[in-house]
Amino acid sequence: MAEPVVRLALIGCGRQMQQNLLPFLQRIRGHRVVACVDPDLSMAAELQALTGAPVLADSVDGLDAGTVDAALLAVPPEPSYRLTRHLVEAGVDCFVEKPAGPSTPALQDLDQVVRLAGRHVQVGFNFRYTETLQRLHELSAGARKTPCSVTIDFYSRHPSAPQWGVDTTLEAWIRHNGVHALDLARWFTPSPVVQVIAHAILDGTDRFQVNLVLRHHDGSLTTLRMGNHVKRFIVGVAVQGMDGSRYSAPSLERVTLELSDGVPFGQELHSTRNLDHGWGRSGFGPELEAFVTACRARAAGRPANGSAAAQDVPSVADALAASVLCDRTMDELYAIGGNGAGVLADPLRVG
Ligand SMILES: NC(=O)c1ccc[n+]([C@@H]2O[C@H](COP(=O)([O-])OP(=O)(O)OC[C@H]3O[C@@H](n4cnc5c(N)ncnc54)[C@H](O)[C@@H]3O)[C@@H](O)[C@H]2O)c1
Repeated sequence: MAEPVVRLALIGCGRQMQQNLLPFLQRIRGHRVVACVDPDLSMAAELQALTGAPVLADSVDGLDAGTVDAALLAVPPEPSYRLTRHLVEAGVDCFVEKPAGPSTPALQDLDQVVRLAGRHVQVGFNFRYTETLQRLHELSAGARKTPCSVTIDFYSRHPSAPQWGVDTTLEAWIRHNGVHALDLARWFTPSPVVQVIAHAILDGTDRFQVNLVLRHHDGSLTTLRMGNHVKRFIVGVAVQGMDGSRYSAPSLERVTLELSDGVPFGQELHSTRNLDHGWGRSGFGPELEAFVTACRARAAGRPANGSAAAQDVPSVADALAASVLCDRTMDELYAIGGNGAGVLADPLRVG
Protein backbone atom coordinates (compact mmCIF):
# COMPACT_ATOMS: atom_id res chain seq x y z
CA MET A 1 0.00 0.00 0.00
CA ALA A 2 1.27 3.51 -0.81
CA GLU A 3 2.36 5.52 2.23
CA PRO A 4 -0.10 8.27 3.15
CA VAL A 5 0.67 11.89 2.26
CA VAL A 6 0.79 14.15 5.30
CA ARG A 7 -1.45 17.22 5.11
CA LEU A 8 0.61 20.02 6.67
CA ALA A 9 -0.29 23.45 8.07
CA LEU A 10 2.45 26.10 8.22
CA ILE A 11 1.88 28.24 11.30
CA GLY A 12 3.90 31.44 11.61
CA CYS A 13 5.18 32.55 8.21
CA GLY A 14 8.06 34.77 9.38
CA ARG A 15 11.82 34.55 8.90
CA GLN A 16 12.44 31.03 10.16
CA MET A 17 9.60 29.50 8.14
CA GLN A 18 10.46 31.42 4.97
CA GLN A 19 14.24 31.23 5.04
CA ASN A 20 15.03 27.93 6.75
CA LEU A 21 12.07 25.57 7.03
CA LEU A 22 10.10 25.90 3.79
CA PRO A 23 13.10 25.70 1.40
CA PHE A 24 14.10 22.35 2.94
CA LEU A 25 10.51 21.13 3.28
CA GLN A 26 10.14 21.60 -0.47
CA ARG A 27 12.95 19.08 -1.00
CA ILE A 28 11.08 16.38 0.96
CA ARG A 29 8.40 14.02 -0.38
CA GLY A 30 5.35 12.64 1.33
CA HIS A 31 3.56 15.80 2.39
CA ARG A 32 1.28 18.47 1.00
CA VAL A 33 0.97 21.98 2.45
CA VAL A 34 -2.75 22.57 2.96
CA ALA A 35 -2.76 25.80 5.01
CA CYS A 36 -0.66 28.88 5.75
CA VAL A 37 -1.45 30.74 8.97
CA ASP A 38 -0.16 34.08 10.27
CA PRO A 39 -1.92 37.09 11.84
CA ASP A 40 0.02 39.05 9.23
CA LEU A 41 -1.94 37.76 6.23
CA SER A 42 0.56 39.19 3.75
CA MET A 43 3.24 36.85 5.20
CA ALA A 44 0.85 33.89 4.99
CA ALA A 45 -0.06 34.84 1.41
CA GLU A 46 3.61 34.83 0.38
CA LEU A 47 3.91 31.22 1.53
CA GLN A 48 0.57 30.30 0.00
CA ALA A 49 1.91 31.52 -3.35
CA LEU A 50 5.00 29.31 -2.93
CA THR A 51 3.16 26.19 -1.77
CA GLY A 52 -0.24 26.35 -3.47
CA ALA A 53 -1.94 25.72 -0.11
CA PRO A 54 -5.75 25.95 -0.48
CA VAL A 55 -6.29 27.59 2.95
CA LEU A 56 -5.04 31.00 4.09
CA ALA A 57 -5.88 32.04 7.66
CA ASP A 58 -4.94 34.72 10.20
CA SER A 59 -5.40 32.34 13.13
CA VAL A 60 -5.47 28.60 13.83
CA ASP A 61 -9.17 29.08 14.59
CA GLY A 62 -9.56 29.30 10.83
CA LEU A 63 -8.30 25.71 10.41
CA ASP A 64 -10.50 22.65 10.17
CA ALA A 65 -8.52 20.08 12.23
CA GLY A 66 -10.17 17.33 10.19
CA THR A 67 -8.26 18.49 7.10
CA VAL A 68 -4.82 18.78 8.76
CA ASP A 69 -2.63 15.87 9.93
CA ALA A 70 0.36 17.84 11.14
CA ALA A 71 1.65 21.38 11.65
CA LEU A 72 5.00 23.17 11.50
CA LEU A 73 5.10 26.03 14.00
CA ALA A 74 7.65 28.85 13.78
CA VAL A 75 6.16 31.51 16.04
CA PRO A 76 7.42 33.34 19.17
CA PRO A 77 7.66 31.23 22.37
CA GLU A 78 4.32 32.20 23.95
CA PRO A 79 2.16 31.29 20.93
CA SER A 80 4.41 28.23 20.38
CA TYR A 81 3.21 26.83 23.68
CA ARG A 82 -0.42 27.90 23.36
CA LEU A 83 -0.86 26.79 19.75
CA THR A 84 0.96 23.47 20.13
CA ARG A 85 -1.22 22.69 23.14
CA HIS A 86 -4.35 23.53 21.17
CA LEU A 87 -3.29 21.51 18.12
CA VAL A 88 -2.25 18.32 19.93
CA GLU A 89 -5.55 18.36 21.79
CA ALA A 90 -7.25 18.58 18.38
CA GLY A 91 -5.30 15.47 17.24
CA VAL A 92 -2.63 17.23 15.12
CA ASP A 93 1.05 16.15 15.23
CA CYS A 94 3.42 19.11 15.60
CA PHE A 95 6.93 20.21 14.74
CA VAL A 96 7.53 23.25 16.94
CA GLU A 97 10.55 25.51 16.84
CA LYS A 98 12.65 25.80 19.97
CA PRO A 99 12.29 26.95 22.74
CA ALA A 100 8.67 25.69 22.28
CA GLY A 101 7.38 27.75 25.21
CA PRO A 102 8.06 30.95 27.16
CA SER A 103 8.88 29.35 30.53
CA THR A 104 9.54 26.13 32.40
CA PRO A 105 5.98 25.95 33.87
CA ALA A 106 4.51 26.36 30.35
CA LEU A 107 6.73 23.55 29.05
CA GLN A 108 5.84 21.36 32.03
CA ASP A 109 2.18 21.80 31.17
CA LEU A 110 2.80 21.19 27.46
CA ASP A 111 4.79 18.03 28.18
CA GLN A 112 1.86 16.65 30.19
CA VAL A 113 -0.71 17.56 27.54
CA VAL A 114 1.40 15.93 24.79
CA ARG A 115 1.80 12.73 26.81
CA LEU A 116 -1.95 12.54 27.51
CA ALA A 117 -2.90 13.30 23.91
CA GLY A 118 -0.37 10.75 22.61
CA ARG A 119 0.53 12.95 19.64
CA HIS A 120 3.96 13.13 18.01
CA VAL A 121 5.64 16.45 18.84
CA GLN A 122 9.17 17.21 17.68
CA VAL A 123 11.08 20.32 18.82
CA GLY A 124 13.36 22.18 16.39
CA PHE A 125 16.77 21.53 17.90
CA ASN A 126 18.26 21.30 14.41
CA PHE A 127 21.91 20.98 15.50
CA ARG A 128 21.23 17.40 16.57
CA TYR A 129 20.51 16.72 12.88
CA THR A 130 23.60 18.35 11.39
CA GLU A 131 25.63 15.73 9.57
CA THR A 132 28.90 16.58 11.34
CA LEU A 133 27.49 16.50 14.88
CA GLN A 134 25.62 13.27 14.08
CA ARG A 135 28.95 11.75 12.95
CA LEU A 136 30.72 13.08 16.05
CA HIS A 137 27.95 11.64 18.23
CA GLU A 138 28.30 8.21 16.60
CA LEU A 139 32.11 8.20 16.50
CA SER A 140 32.41 9.23 20.16
CA ALA A 141 29.75 6.80 21.41
CA GLY A 142 32.39 4.42 22.85
CA ALA A 143 34.32 7.23 24.54
CA ARG A 144 31.07 8.57 26.06
CA LYS A 145 30.11 5.23 27.66
CA THR A 146 32.23 6.15 30.69
CA PRO A 147 32.49 9.63 32.26
CA CYS A 148 34.02 12.06 29.79
CA SER A 149 34.42 15.76 29.16
CA VAL A 150 32.64 17.58 26.37
CA THR A 151 33.39 21.13 25.25
CA ILE A 152 30.80 23.02 23.24
CA ASP A 153 31.48 26.32 21.49
CA PHE A 154 28.36 28.16 20.44
CA TYR A 155 28.67 31.75 19.25
CA SER A 156 26.06 33.80 17.48
CA ARG A 157 25.45 37.53 17.13
CA HIS A 158 21.70 37.08 17.60
CA PRO A 159 19.63 37.97 19.44
CA SER A 160 21.49 41.22 19.97
CA ALA A 161 18.59 42.96 21.76
CA PRO A 162 15.85 41.96 24.24
CA GLN A 163 13.28 39.79 22.47
CA TRP A 164 9.84 38.18 22.88
CA GLY A 165 9.09 39.49 26.37
CA VAL A 166 12.53 38.74 27.83
CA ASP A 167 13.94 41.94 29.37
CA THR A 168 17.68 41.67 28.77
CA THR A 169 19.75 40.75 25.73
CA LEU A 170 21.75 38.25 27.82
CA GLU A 171 18.65 36.36 28.97
CA ALA A 172 16.99 36.52 25.53
CA TRP A 173 20.19 35.11 24.00
CA ILE A 174 20.41 32.27 26.55
CA ARG A 175 16.72 31.31 26.25
CA HIS A 176 16.31 31.71 22.50
CA ASN A 177 19.73 30.69 21.16
CA GLY A 178 21.98 29.35 23.95
CA VAL A 179 19.20 26.81 24.51
CA HIS A 180 20.53 25.00 21.39
CA ALA A 181 23.92 24.55 23.11
CA LEU A 182 22.25 23.34 26.31
CA ASP A 183 20.28 20.80 24.29
CA LEU A 184 23.51 19.62 22.64
CA ALA A 185 25.08 19.27 26.10
CA ARG A 186 22.23 16.93 27.12
CA TRP A 187 22.39 15.03 23.84
CA PHE A 188 26.12 14.33 24.17
CA THR A 189 25.95 13.67 27.92
CA PRO A 190 22.49 12.45 28.96
CA SER A 191 23.53 11.93 32.60
CA PRO A 192 21.54 14.41 34.77
CA VAL A 193 23.16 17.77 35.53
CA VAL A 194 23.83 18.18 39.25
CA GLN A 195 25.57 21.54 39.23
CA VAL A 196 25.67 24.60 36.98
CA ILE A 197 28.45 27.16 37.24
CA ALA A 198 28.09 30.22 35.03
CA HIS A 199 30.17 33.29 34.38
CA ALA A 200 29.48 36.12 31.97
CA ILE A 201 31.84 38.78 30.71
CA LEU A 202 29.90 41.93 29.85
CA ASP A 203 31.36 45.07 28.31
CA GLY A 204 28.58 47.52 29.13
CA THR A 205 27.06 47.21 25.67
CA ASP A 206 24.80 44.38 24.57
CA ARG A 207 27.84 42.17 23.82
CA PHE A 208 28.91 39.37 26.14
CA GLN A 209 30.52 36.01 26.44
CA VAL A 210 29.27 33.31 28.80
CA ASN A 211 31.20 30.33 30.13
CA LEU A 212 29.18 27.54 31.66
CA VAL A 213 30.26 24.38 33.40
CA LEU A 214 27.76 21.55 33.86
CA ARG A 215 28.70 18.81 36.29
CA HIS A 216 26.86 15.58 35.51
CA HIS A 217 25.73 12.89 37.95
CA ASP A 218 28.04 10.27 36.42
CA GLY A 219 31.10 12.51 36.88
CA SER A 220 31.14 13.82 33.30
CA LEU A 221 31.75 17.51 32.71
CA THR A 222 30.41 19.74 29.96
CA THR A 223 32.03 23.13 29.33
CA LEU A 224 30.12 25.57 27.15
CA ARG A 225 31.77 28.64 25.67
CA MET A 226 29.12 30.93 24.25
CA GLY A 227 28.47 34.53 23.37
CA ASN A 228 27.31 37.16 20.91
CA HIS A 229 30.59 39.09 20.77
CA VAL A 230 31.57 37.43 17.49
CA LYS A 231 31.22 38.46 13.84
CA ARG A 232 29.79 35.20 12.57
CA PHE A 233 28.00 32.09 13.70
CA ILE A 234 30.38 29.43 15.11
CA VAL A 235 29.56 25.97 16.49
CA GLY A 236 32.08 23.35 17.56
CA VAL A 237 32.08 20.30 19.84
CA ALA A 238 34.92 18.18 21.26
CA VAL A 239 34.61 14.95 23.25
CA GLN A 240 37.47 13.74 25.42
CA GLY A 241 37.22 10.16 26.73
CA MET A 242 39.10 8.33 29.45
CA ASP A 243 40.36 5.93 26.78
CA GLY A 244 42.80 8.64 25.68
CA SER A 245 40.69 9.71 22.70
CA ARG A 246 39.69 13.21 21.72
CA TYR A 247 37.19 13.63 18.90
CA SER A 248 36.80 17.17 17.68
CA ALA A 249 34.40 18.97 15.36
CA PRO A 250 35.80 22.53 15.43
CA SER A 251 33.09 23.58 12.98
CA LEU A 252 30.06 22.00 11.32
CA GLU A 253 32.38 20.86 8.53
CA ARG A 254 34.68 18.13 9.83
CA VAL A 255 35.47 15.66 12.58
CA THR A 256 39.06 14.85 13.56
CA LEU A 257 40.43 12.25 15.95
CA GLU A 258 42.92 14.59 17.63
CA LEU A 259 44.14 12.10 20.24
CA SER A 260 44.01 8.33 20.03
CA ASP A 261 45.07 6.03 22.84
CA GLY A 262 46.59 9.01 24.61
CA VAL A 263 48.85 10.21 21.79
CA PRO A 264 48.40 12.94 19.16
CA PHE A 265 46.80 11.47 16.07
CA GLY A 266 45.13 14.04 13.83
CA GLN A 267 43.20 11.76 11.51
CA GLU A 268 40.27 13.36 9.69
CA LEU A 269 37.26 11.06 10.10
CA HIS A 270 34.57 13.10 8.39
CA SER A 271 34.18 16.16 6.19
CA THR A 272 31.10 17.73 4.64
CA ARG A 273 30.29 17.42 0.97
CA ASN A 274 29.29 21.08 0.61
CA LEU A 275 27.38 20.41 -2.61
CA ASP A 276 24.06 19.69 -0.94
CA HIS A 277 22.87 23.31 -0.55
CA GLY A 278 23.11 23.23 3.22
CA TRP A 279 21.12 20.04 3.75
CA GLY A 280 23.71 18.31 5.96
CA ARG A 281 25.24 21.42 7.44
CA SER A 282 22.11 23.13 8.77
CA GLY A 283 20.18 20.09 9.97
CA PHE A 284 16.88 21.72 8.92
CA GLY A 285 16.24 19.26 6.09
CA PRO A 286 17.02 16.07 8.04
CA GLU A 287 14.95 17.20 11.04
CA LEU A 288 11.92 17.94 8.84
CA GLU A 289 12.40 14.67 6.99
CA ALA A 290 12.39 12.83 10.33
CA PHE A 291 9.17 14.62 11.25
CA VAL A 292 7.38 13.89 7.97
CA THR A 293 8.52 10.24 8.12
CA ALA A 294 7.21 9.87 11.68
CA CYS A 295 3.85 11.45 10.76
CA ARG A 296 3.51 9.14 7.74
CA ALA A 297 4.29 6.11 9.90
CA ARG A 298 1.57 7.14 12.35
CA ALA A 299 -0.92 7.71 9.55
CA ALA A 300 -0.10 4.22 8.25
CA GLY A 301 -0.84 2.81 11.70
CA ARG A 302 2.78 2.25 12.75
CA PRO A 303 4.15 3.88 15.91
CA ALA A 304 6.08 7.10 15.15
CA ASN A 305 8.76 6.06 17.61
CA GLY A 306 9.25 2.59 16.15
CA SER A 307 12.85 3.03 14.96
CA ALA A 308 15.91 3.77 17.07
CA ALA A 309 16.44 7.04 15.15
CA ALA A 310 12.90 8.18 15.92
CA GLN A 311 13.42 7.57 19.64
CA ASP A 312 16.24 10.15 19.55
CA VAL A 313 13.84 12.84 18.31
CA PRO A 314 14.03 16.05 20.40
CA SER A 315 10.79 16.13 22.37
CA VAL A 316 8.93 18.58 24.59
CA ALA A 317 10.60 16.75 27.52
CA ASP A 318 13.95 17.81 26.02
CA ALA A 319 12.74 21.39 25.59
CA LEU A 320 11.61 21.31 29.23
CA ALA A 321 14.99 19.99 30.45
CA ALA A 322 16.82 22.63 28.38
CA SER A 323 14.55 25.32 29.83
CA VAL A 324 15.41 24.18 33.38
CA LEU A 325 19.10 24.52 32.48
CA CYS A 326 18.39 28.04 31.14
CA ASP A 327 16.73 28.87 34.48
CA ARG A 328 19.73 27.56 36.45
CA THR A 329 22.10 29.47 34.21
CA MET A 330 20.20 32.71 34.69
CA ASP A 331 19.97 32.14 38.48
CA GLU A 332 23.73 31.74 38.53
CA LEU A 333 24.37 34.76 36.32
CA TYR A 334 22.03 37.00 38.29
CA ALA A 335 23.39 35.72 41.65
CA ILE A 336 26.29 38.17 41.71
CA GLY A 337 25.35 41.33 39.90
CA GLY A 338 24.87 39.84 36.48
CA ASN A 339 28.19 38.12 35.96
CA GLY A 340 28.44 35.90 39.00
CA ALA A 341 30.16 32.59 39.44
CA GLY A 342 28.27 31.79 42.63
CA VAL A 343 28.11 28.16 43.72
CA LEU A 344 24.58 26.82 44.09
CA ALA A 345 23.69 26.45 47.76
CA ASP A 346 21.40 23.54 47.05
CA PRO A 347 22.33 21.71 43.86
CA LEU A 348 19.37 20.05 42.24
CA ARG A 349 19.24 17.35 39.64
CA VAL A 350 17.83 18.62 36.40
CA GLY A 351 17.57 17.25 32.92
N1 LIG B 1 16.13 26.43 14.89
C1 LIG B 1 16.70 27.60 14.59
O1 LIG B 1 17.89 27.65 14.28
C2 LIG B 1 15.87 28.86 14.64
C3 LIG B 1 16.36 30.02 14.01
C4 LIG B 1 15.55 31.16 14.06
C5 LIG B 1 14.34 31.15 14.72
N2 LIG B 1 13.92 30.00 15.32
C6 LIG B 1 12.64 29.95 16.06
O2 LIG B 1 11.56 30.13 15.15
C7 LIG B 1 10.50 30.83 15.79
C8 LIG B 1 10.11 32.05 14.93
O3 LIG B 1 11.24 32.89 14.77
P1 LIG B 1 11.33 33.92 13.54
O4 LIG B 1 12.73 34.42 13.54
O5 LIG B 1 10.76 33.33 12.32
O6 LIG B 1 10.38 35.10 14.07
P2 LIG B 1 9.52 36.09 13.14
O7 LIG B 1 9.06 37.18 14.05
O8 LIG B 1 10.27 36.46 11.90
O9 LIG B 1 8.27 35.21 12.69
C9 LIG B 1 7.29 34.78 13.58
C10 LIG B 1 5.97 34.79 12.84
O10 LIG B 1 4.98 34.24 13.72
C11 LIG B 1 3.78 34.97 13.48
N3 LIG B 1 2.86 34.75 14.61
C12 LIG B 1 2.84 35.36 15.81
N4 LIG B 1 1.78 34.91 16.54
C13 LIG B 1 1.15 33.99 15.77
C14 LIG B 1 -0.01 33.19 15.94
N5 LIG B 1 -0.72 33.25 17.07
N6 LIG B 1 -0.37 32.36 14.94
C15 LIG B 1 0.33 32.27 13.81
N7 LIG B 1 1.43 33.03 13.57
C16 LIG B 1 1.83 33.87 14.54
C17 LIG B 1 4.25 36.42 13.33
O11 LIG B 1 3.27 37.23 12.71
C18 LIG B 1 5.50 36.23 12.48
O12 LIG B 1 5.20 36.30 11.09
C19 LIG B 1 11.00 31.15 17.20
O13 LIG B 1 10.56 30.17 18.09
C20 LIG B 1 12.51 31.06 17.07
O14 LIG B 1 13.14 30.73 18.30
C21 LIG B 1 14.65 28.86 15.27
